[in-house]
Amino acid sequence: MSWRSQHAVKSALPMTRIAEAVRLLRAGALVAFPTETVYGLGADARNNAAVEKIFRLKGRPVDHPVIVHLPDASHLERWAKNIPDAAYQLAQTFWPGPLTIILQRQQDVPAIVSGGQQTIGLRIPNHPVALELLRAFNDGVAAPSANRFGHISPTTAAHVRDEFGDAVSMILDGGDCEVGIESTIVDLSGFAPRILRPGMISTAEIAAVLKRDVVSGNEIGRETPRVSGSLDAHYAPRSPLQLLSADEIAIQVQRAITSGQCMGVLAIDGRSPELPNIVWQSASGDPKVFAHELYSHMRKLDAQNLSLIIVQQVPKGEKWSAIADRLKRAAAGSGGAE
Ligand code: TXA
Ligand code: MG
Repeated sequence: MSWRSQHAVKSALPMTRIAEAVRLLRAGALVAFPTETVYGLGADARNNAAVEKIFRLKGRPVDHPVIVHLPDASHLERWAKNIPDAAYQLAQTFWPGPLTIILQRQQDVPAIVSGGQQTIGLRIPNHPVALELLRAFNDGVAAPSANRFGHISPTTAAHVRDEFGDAVSMILDGGDCEVGIESTIVDLSGFAPRILRPGMISTAEIAAVLKRDVVSGNEIGRETPRVSGSLDAHYAPRSPLQLLSADEIAIQVQRAITSGQCMGVLAIDGRSPELPNIVWQSASGDPKVFAHELYSHMRKLDAQNLSLIIVQQVPKGEKWSAIADRLKRAAAGSGGAE
């Protein structure tokens, strides 16, 4: 599958907006921008003080590295060293696209960007606004997802405004993010390729390009690096969230009829019981559409101060694995739980 062909669309933003964003980045300010996965909170990756602002605003621990976004693959060697052929093969196949590659970092990369580790995460996003911004900036932009630490990633400019208000100097609006969940992270800095975070580019697709087995981070017997997206509790709404089967949801709905409990339900192709105390969201049975809509659905439900959000367990299988991963972490971190 080509991730490139889907974004033939030109950015609808006037060049003056991009020029203003570049001016702000060069001045050390934060600029939020759309990517095909989620919105990023960007800063000049070579400016320590600017990257520190990201950590302060997100409330993110300083030992969590941030991904550096690049305009094109010719910038790779400025940020990474000892780059294996596998990196070029993946870059060739999937960039621009929803894949982050972890490599050994160049010595002059600011320590705050790599969270004090010897590696760096690099990605070329596939979104016309992001690409215009990066090309005009012509260097690396450090950008985590534009949400407070542990909270749901934003997939619209309005979500970013809800998270940070005026604390971000500029939010470039590029519409809804097409993919909707964060990039796949593959670690090529060590002996064997490892998936640190599943995403819509699957392990099998990566293994097929590399023509070798690719393990996932938890399967290899070595200490997991500090990846905030790999914490058990992450991507979480404020209301408690439970994952249940369709049958279990039906039982909960029956209970809510008598108890009057206010709850939200996100169900695949399910039919709304049309009860005043149940907020029902229908989700798609197509994993791509499900992922595209997931965080918007979760934010809508979370905005209603429900005592419980129930999400239907997604089908098993590779196409759903990144979604299942995010839902599991959302449940673990929901309602302020650890
Ligand atoms: O789709 C995405 O990747 C979005 C868009 C904005 O590009 N970005 C994103 O960034 O999700 P963030 O910071 O929210 O999640 C990136 C994850 C974090 O868990 C971080 O710890 C991990 O990538 N990471 C970054 N650099 C790393 C490194 N050198 N080694 C291990 N993990 C790294
Ligand atoms: Mg994040």
